[in-house]
Amino acid sequence: MAKRGSWRTRFGFYLLAIGSACGLGNLWRFPYVVGENGGGAFILIYVFMALAIGAPMLIAELILGKNSRKSVIVATQQLSTKAGKHFKWVGRFAVILSIVVLSYYAVISGWVLHFLTQFLVSLFSTPEVVTTKTNLASLMSNGWLQFMLASAHLLITVVVVVKGVQEGLEKWISYTMPLFAALVIVLVVRSFSLPSTPEVLRFLFYPDFSKLNLASLNHALGHVFFTLSVGFGTMVTFGSYMREEDHPPTAGFRVTLVDTAISLIAVVMIFPVAFQATNAPLTDPALMFEVLPSYLISIPGGALFGLAFFACLYMAALNASIGLLEVVVSNWVDVQKKMERGSASWYSGIIALFLATFPALSSTLFADFEVKGRSLIESLDSLLINWALPIVALGMLVAYNLGTSEKEKELNFVDKDKFVSYTMYPHWLFTLKWAAPFVIGLGLILQIIGAIL
Ligand code: PHE
Ligand code: NA
Repeated sequence: MAKRGSWRTRFGFYLLAIGSACGLGNLWRFPYVVGENGGGAFILIYVFMALAIGAPMLIAELILGKNSRKSVIVATQQLSTKAGKHFKWVGRFAVILSIVVLSYYAVISGWVLHFLTQFLVSLFSTPEVVTTKTNLASLMSNGWLQFMLASAHLLITVVVVVKGVQEGLEKWISYTMPLFAALVIVLVVRSFSLPSTPEVLRFLFYPDFSKLNLASLNHALGHVFFTLSVGFGTMVTFGSYMREEDHPPTAGFRVTLVDTAISLIAVVMIFPVAFQATNAPLTDPALMFEVLPSYLISIPGGALFGLAFFACLYMAALNASIGLLEVVVSNWVDVQKKMERGSASWYSGIIALFLATFPALSSTLFADFEVKGRSLIESLDSLLINWALPIVALGMLVAYNLGTSEKEKELNFVDKDKFVSYTMYPHWLFTLKWAAPFVIGLGLILQIIGAIL
């Protein structure tokens, strides 16, 4: 049997897990979901859910992987055998979800690539190249360009994954992550000097619960799972690469904290600019791409800054995409022993590319598509993240609860060298067994009621 890859250093694990968690979900999706759900009250619920529900589930996924040394399909199969139940499908759905989300993620990553090249071009011509309105509009009106950009992105992702988990990328991430953090902080400071800031801070941090709607709880949960890469099997795969001495509870908490912090910084960075540009919180998926480039180009040294910013954003998107593709590939290889990593990566890439046609052509060929005022790409986002993801996450939770004994859970969670794992253990157990299934179920029911009314 081929040896399963594992990271030489603890640092390597964090780079990949945090790299997979922090991506477009934080910088692009979180701000517009906050806009859609009315600001402060939603942020409060979101942060609470990330820590109370997201982190415990992330930890459970890591443990599942670390214990079984397998990816999610085989790992849930093993739980089925233990419990005499049929959980196989949960793992399969997680993998199907991953590949569909990858195709959609690739289209948005393609938008990032587009602005990256625009900033590059603007260095050699005039900043006007990046005057956003025309550029976002021209990108939106060009479906094939979006498709080509998504293909380029998928190609890059496949090439990296074919090379395996250890090579090359770790080094890149360790360079771009700190640079990105520095750029974002500079931008936050700049955004704070905009006249719109007081109003924005009020919108973001003054919780006005009347702005929430029936679906808001579920929107918060869906985004928590998406942003933490929970419910896709990604963290099961990453857990399976952990070293014996690594402690999943600690790792899971750290990943959650970093990811949540980045999302909060992202809203503080983007909203002042958005308010400045439009006098309102923007609520559509184009938010970041609409306001950020034109703002960047308007500040001194903006072309270079914008180039660096979008280059780092692209690296973040690439890392996240790698996580998604990695789930599909590792499952394929675990299930079909004869399948080679390389071929599995190429096949998965091709499937994702085929699926990407739909979101890529959302604003052109499928421009007439509309459900409740939502375009194809927005409907897809909602279907995947507000419906499919919480359901799959719930399924994985049930499988894990029924497929492992309390003794086994305790053994995996409590580390004799770590005091916190004793104090946290009962809470974690309670959350997995009762709180999380209840809250996810409630979120889904409220969302269904909201959809009917
Ligand atoms: N968590 C990533 C983000 O926030 C998206 C992602 C989901 C990546 C699932 C890998 C697996 O952008
Ligand atoms: Na994230």
